[in-house]
Amino acid sequence: MYRFALIGYPVKHSLSPWIHESFLNKANLEGEYSIYEIPPDEPFPAKLNRLMDDQVDGFNVTVPYKEKIIPFLDDVDDDAARIKAVNTVVNRNGKWIGYNTDGVGYLRSLENKFPDFYLDKFKRILLIGSGGATRGIYYALVQAGFLHIDITNRTTEKAAEIAKLKNVTAATAILSLEQAEEMLQTYDVIIQTTSVGMKPDQEKVIFRVNQLKSPSIVSDIIYQPLETKLLKQAYDAGASVHFGHTMLLYQAQYAFEIWTGKKVPIGDMDERLQRHLEGR
Ligand code: ATR
Repeated sequence: MYRFALIGYPVKHSLSPWIHESFLNKANLEGEYSIYEIPPDEPFPAKLNRLMDDQVDGFNVTVPYKEKIIPFLDDVDDDAARIKAVNTVVNRNGKWIGYNTDGVGYLRSLENKFPDFYLDKFKRILLIGSGGATRGIYYALVQAGFLHIDITNRTTEKAAEIAKLKNVTAATAILSLEQAEEMLQTYDVIIQTTSVGMKPDQEKVIFRVNQLKSPSIVSDIIYQPLETKLLKQAYDAGASVHFGHTMLLYQAQYAFEIWTGKKVPIGDMDERLQRHLEGR
């Protein structure tokens, strides 16, 4: 009987229990996945200790604790240490080991939709944003061998910090939002990772996406709404669009793999999650 949990705040409406319970079913494993909300005004170490004393098999970590959790772990995987964010913790014989599945999960979701994605490492890629998710995706792209990954953010200093994560091979320019907007036509892939356009502000868009290269891929990691205004503009401008809910599924797939050793195919979960998010 596996026991998993999610810590964060607010997490009451998280989709992770549904996703992981579906994986357990598909893998024919017994188990449960519980929400363990830690409000920011409660003592984090005491609450975390209670969860760890309970000897769960693993847990996910979400905002605002992805960085804060690190000093409480026995070991942290090299990639997660580098990006300074942990979203998955596994209990290995009583030792707590931290991982980050966001970047790899994101790339799996992209590869699933665009199987040829890895063929051309010279693609020009633009990342919009500089939060924890951006760090994971940037680092995963660098590790996968992509050679040209620019970053744009409202606060360019934060983007410059992310570029320091790269190895020697990738070239990264740091752009203001205005500069990036002007250069959109030069990118093969545009990945939106900020919270701009998320419900209840779904009318917002970080900048107008109308002049795009043909062909190009535009991706938004927001999944509420499923189709953000940015994706709608990109679709109208002729791009192939990639939806955020698939990253949610694949980062969870990789977390489940770390916990159980089983890689469960996503199959119909993509369609089921879409229906759920659209209230169908
Ligand atoms: P994460 O959950 O990925 O860690 P975060 O650290 O909260 O997210 O980062 C949110 C991202 O959204 C940042 O890139 C932030 O830009 P800044 O670094 O300049 O703060 C971006 N963001 C949030 N609101 C924004 C807005 N109104 N306009 C432009 N960018 C915004």
